[in-house]
Amino acid sequence: MSETRQIIVLDFGSQYTQLIARKIRELHVDSAILPCTATQEEVLACKPRGVILSGGPNSVYDEGAPGLTLDLKSLGIPVLGICYGLQAAGQALGGEVKASDRREYGLATLVIDEEDPLLAGLPKESPVWMSHGDSLSRPPVGARVLASTSNTACAVVAVPEARFWGVQFHPEVHHSLHGREMLQNFVFTICACEASWTAGRFIERQVELIRSTVGTESRVICGISGGVDSTVTAALIHQAIGPRLTCIFVNNGLLRDGEYEAVQHMLRDNLHLNLIAVDASELFLSRLAGVTEPERKRKIIGHTFIEVFESEAKHLPDVDFLAQGTLYPDVIESTMQRGPSQTIKTHHNVGGLPERLNFRLLEPLRELFKDEVRAVGAELGLPHLMLWRHPFPGPGLAIRVLGEVTPERVRTLQKADRILTDELRASGWYDRTWQALAVLLPVSTVGVMGDKRTYENVLALRVVDSTDAMTADFSRLPWDLLGKVSNRIINEVAGINRVVYDVSSKPPATIEWE
Ligand code: XMP
Repeated sequence: MSETRQIIVLDFGSQYTQLIARKIRELHVDSAILPCTATQEEVLACKPRGVILSGGPNSVYDEGAPGLTLDLKSLGIPVLGICYGLQAAGQALGGEVKASDRREYGLATLVIDEEDPLLAGLPKESPVWMSHGDSLSRPPVGARVLASTSNTACAVVAVPEARFWGVQFHPEVHHSLHGREMLQNFVFTICACEASWTAGRFIERQVELIRSTVGTESRVICGISGGVDSTVTAALIHQAIGPRLTCIFVNNGLLRDGEYEAVQHMLRDNLHLNLIAVDASELFLSRLAGVTEPERKRKIIGHTFIEVFESEAKHLPDVDFLAQGTLYPDVIESTMQRGPSQTIKTHHNVGGLPERLNFRLLEPLRELFKDEVRAVGAELGLPHLMLWRHPFPGPGLAIRVLGEVTPERVRTLQKADRILTDELRASGWYDRTWQALAVLLPVSTVGVMGDKRTYENVLALRVVDSTDAMTADFSRLPWDLLGKVSNRIINEVAGINRVVYDVSSKPPATIEWE
């Protein structure tokens, strides 16, 4: 069964596809991204009020370039084509696309020549963001050319007979000054969508959906880490089916100081979840003994997690569903029409569980972005401290203890990490930064304490600003705060005699050191 959506975004492989969906959601209109190979029937099954065709990396003349599966004249709802979406649709409607191996990239001035509902309220001239090679050189018969730039004659076109609008630039990026108004005009004036997406409505709809999917007998299990995504997933499912949800929280021995206890307290006492907590730290740490290579650490932790989870799940009767806190960015990675990009680090360490256990998947957050998950969590009454926790990687401190992971080195790192977190919270910087970590380096340096020479480890502090972890920059923390953290760590944590601050950005560095 397809769920209904007011706007369908067809993904032709643009780096901005998610951003289009996101901008539509900001207008409180629900949308879904489908691959550009989706058929007209699949699109219409969602009962949308409009369709947006994304941009893409191809030329319509490339071999194997994705074509338009929709027949615009029989579709019956308005369509907006962006960049490649305009070219593919323009060509399908009988227009001509001029191929070019030169790209026009950056700001251009859009000049409106004809009035249209899509451009209502816009000034005659405004900056727009271009990123294209090809362009529509001859519009389809019956098309109206509404606006142009000095390089692009058909910058905005409308084909009334097909209820099609196309723009050569990217209204979804913030450099297009009036892009939001254009999307707003399309969504509300042209498609007559309703601004009905709120966290409360989302919860109501998901609760109904979970109930009808799971039925009145089946049980659901959910691996929970205490992080935002898995906790909100569990709280939502708990709202729908109560104690028929069982959560499994595994202590891999690589959590932060005191976290195993604190997360259990939150899940049991605040959220009243049916929780199985398993302390498997010894198993994980024994398997990591002697291992130094980061990807091997990740694999060992991932496999051990599956093993522990599996053996717990076996004891539970009538489990048919496995819940996962998958978010939109995870989904879209797997529906992109181009192949996956090179693996820098394998982040998804619980992949493979559903197939092995023969469970059906339940992923109630799969259409949301992180901040929307937080809004849903707040609406469900989850504590602020939990919703605004910094991201924490599945392999935990194992990828922050560089070199071999021993119980002693994990303990040392936990103490230093605790001081960093406490000081960031006390100074108000925790909520102003994306992520803060301490990294224990397998490097010894000479120091002096009292009158004695020391020869101990270096600890690196990494605090970054980011919006999505794809790019990041080091946080400009006050020197005094850094000094205080460094001082406390060297004085209070045995085995560390030097602290350094990581001032690299991502790219070219990454957030974690391994
Ligand atoms: P990098 O280090 O690639 O990290 O810049 C980007 C974000 O992903 C987190 N991260 C992971 N999360 N399993 C996870 O669940 C992993 O193996 C993993 N490695 C990195 C990292 O903390 C940051 O938020």
